[in-house]
Formats: sequence, structure tokens, C-alpha cells
Amino acid sequence: MRLALAAGTSTPELARATACALGRDLERCTVERFPDGELAVALPDVRGADVYLIQGTPPPAHDHLAELLLLADAARRAGAARVTGVLPYVAYARQDRRGAEGEGVGGRVVADQLSAALDRVVAVDLHTAALEGFFSCPVEHLAAVPLLAARVRPLATGCVVVAPDLGAIGRARHYAGLLGLDVAAVRKRRLSGREVEALGVDGDVRGRDVLVVDDMISTGATVAAAVNALRGAGARRAAVVATHPLLVPPAEELLGSLDLDALVVSDSVRTAACTTPPLDVVGLGPLLADAIGRLHREAPMAQLLAAT
Ligand code: R5P
Repeated sequence: MRLALAAGTSTPELARATACALGRDLERCTVERFPDGELAVALPDVRGADVYLIQGTPPPAHDHLAELLLLADAARRAGAARVTGVLPYVAYARQDRRGAEGEGVGGRVVADQLSAALDRVVAVDLHTAALEGFFSCPVEHLAAVPLLAARVRPLATGCVVVAPDLGAIGRARHYAGLLGLDVAAVRKRRLSGREVEALGVDGDVRGRDVLVVDDMISTGATVAAAVNALRGAGARRAAVVATHPLLVPPAEELLGSLDLDALVVSDSVRTAACTTPPLDVVGLGPLLADAIGRLHREAPMAQLLAAT
């Protein structure tokens, strides 16, 4: 079966880097808009192929999701033998349960749509590993953490790895294990979509440098509250590493106010350059290429997968 790579518009540079790492070209694929805003996509040359659609769902999430669903439909109607969605970032993953009576569970809604459209999903550093269970198709959950940890290693000597909320403890332990460092955590309370409050720091950070680790930075409120709480608890220098840099306003302003030594992210999301501090971007192309190559050859994936 021929391997065919195609990309939507969410992360064109990452799609090209992935294709380049695989030594292949991206398929001819068009994504256009009708005057009323509806999407029109075409993926004509994939009959009989093992198709990998590189298209995450970063903001604007609904546009990117619709594009992926339409591309999957186009691939099937063009005769693709198998269609895998490669999502460097999966939106709605934070909605994995109801926060209050009357709410919906967005993670499940999105997983249902993707499961119906695709034969398989490849995702990277999901907000929670349990999200895999929301999908009725197989999910290959790749870990970008080892790549990001390798990038921060030179500046992490002697740091304490800090989870900015209790939900990030597993991720902090993963980084700490790879880097041979201690772990601390900030207790956080979310007040609204843009506001969080740090309730305290668990662990001793007095006089220590800290490396705050998270899966994503959206408004920057979580990271800002954590870094300020850590400084209040006596921490010295601070660096931040997060896989998915959504960086919606006022993230740039908040991050710029923190006097960070480094801000390391991946290219899972196409983001405008953050100026203070400059983003240090780790490319995921080789990881995605390795995963796609293995899936196509039906080779073992364990080495690339996030811990369960
Ligand atoms: C929360 O559980 C996530 O892991 C992130 O910490 C959070 O969603 C980041 O959002 P923001 O940057 O808006 O605080």
C-alpha cells in the first residue's frame, strides 16, 4: 500500500518538516472557502493509499476540526484504503468531565466526531492520557516530553521541576525522571477562563532555580500564577517548558512580565513569535515522521508513546 501524506492549514511548516523527514512530498490537496464561509476541500490522488492527514485543531479549533473532518471524507471518497489523522494538538482535551451540572463534555464530542471520520488518530502530549478512552478508534499517543526535556537539559542543572497545578504532577515527574531532578507543585484554583489563583507551593523551592512544566500555555495565567507563587516562596531563576503554545491574549504580556530565563515549546501549534522571552521552539517533524513510518510499516510504537 502506498503511503500518502497530506496536510490541512493548521501547521503547514510542521507538515512540511514531517514530509521532509520521511523523504516524501505532500499530496496535492486544496482547502478553500466559499463566500459564505463554508469550506471546500479536495484530495484527489489517494486511491488505495495509506493516508496520513497532518492537521491539528489549534485555535480557531472549529475551523481546523471541520477541515480535518472534510479532508478525511475527501480521502475516503477518493478511495483511500486507510485514513489516519495526525493531530499535533487536540482541542477540547481539557473538557474531559463536567465541571458543573448542566455542562457538556467537549472532549467526548470531539472524540466521537474524529472516531467516526478516521481509522486511527495520532496525538501528541494530550492534556490527559485518559482521553484515549474517549475515542472508539485506536489512538497512538506520542510523547514530545523527551524531546523537550533534551532541549531544556543544559539550563536545568540543579532546578526543581514544578507542576503548575496538581493535574500536571505526572508530567512533572516524567520531566524530573528524564532530567534527574526533584519535583514540586503549585496548588491552583481556576477562577475563570482567564484567571487562576495559586493557593500555595508543595515542596521546597527556597533558593532554588525552577523549571515549570505544562502541557499547554493558553492565556498564560497558569504559568504566571505559578512563577509568581514560586518566587514568593523563595525560588530564584525560572524557566518554562510546555508542549502546546496556544498563546492567546494576554499570554505574551503575562509571560513577558515574568523575567523567565527560557520559554521552550514545540511547533505543535503555529504561533506568532513571543518576544520576551523569545520562544525556543522544538520541531516535532522527526517524531511525527518516525510515528507515521512505523505505523505504515506496522512496526512497534512503544518507544514513541506517552506513558499510560
Ligand atoms: C490546565 O489544566 C492545563 O494543563 C494548563 O495549565 C492550562 O489550560 C493553561 O491555560 P492558561 O494558560 O490559560 O492558564
